[in-house]
Amino acid sequence: MRLPILVVNFKAYSEAAGRRALEIARAAERAARELGASIAVAPNHVELALVAQSVEIPVYAQGADAEAPGARTAHVAIDNIKAAGASGVILNHSEAPLALNTLSRLVSRARELGLDVIVCAPDARTGLAAAALGPHAVAVEPPELIGTGRAVSRYKPEVITESVRLVSAHFPDVAVITGAGVESGDDVSAALELGTRGVLVASAVVKAGDPYAKIVELARPLARA
Ligand code: G3P
Repeated sequence: MRLPILVVNFKAYSEAAGRRALEIARAAERAARELGASIAVAPNHVELALVAQSVEIPVYAQGADAEAPGARTAHVAIDNIKAAGASGVILNHSEAPLALNTLSRLVSRARELGLDVIVCAPDARTGLAAAALGPHAVAVEPPELIGTGRAVSRYKPEVITESVRLVSAHFPDVAVITGAGVESGDDVSAALELGTRGVLVASAVVKAGDPYAKIVELARPLARA
């Protein structure tokens, strides 16, 4: 994972489904190339393979099920994600939380498979616990700000500074990134100034009239960092 990083999470938004997933991923690829910035996209599982085959920037899965590959109808094993061409995975998003033992197993398996691993946490202390599992990055996202347009870096900066303080003191190799409500380049700049190594964003890009222009705005501060 090249830091600092912008991760665009498509979630299950209809605005990022089907061909739109490809369009947004290509917009992210173009912005990454033009700015020299590190940008990853996280399409829905449904479009994961298509996007991974179509762009050269990192493509992350939004999550994975605990089950091992095999007779597991409708489940998506972490091995399936790797086989689909993903280069990373986001685990324990607040919209897809995992039990601790499951999360621990998935982090280990993802690392064995050579995937970049981001573990989400709702607050600083959970972020510290998540860092103990050995991901590449912890993404601290206060759930109450997700999708609100009220950026964590402006409305809850103390969550970021505390996360950076705790994680860097105990697990200096684990990067802290953040997300929730991020909608402008200034929000990203503020997150970086507070000590993070990147930002996770969804609605501001997916719902933008011009996703490419929004990605450029959000990634520009990373390219300067
Ligand atoms: O995974 C990113 C996310 O939860 C933040 O969502 O819509 O507030 O950018 P949003």
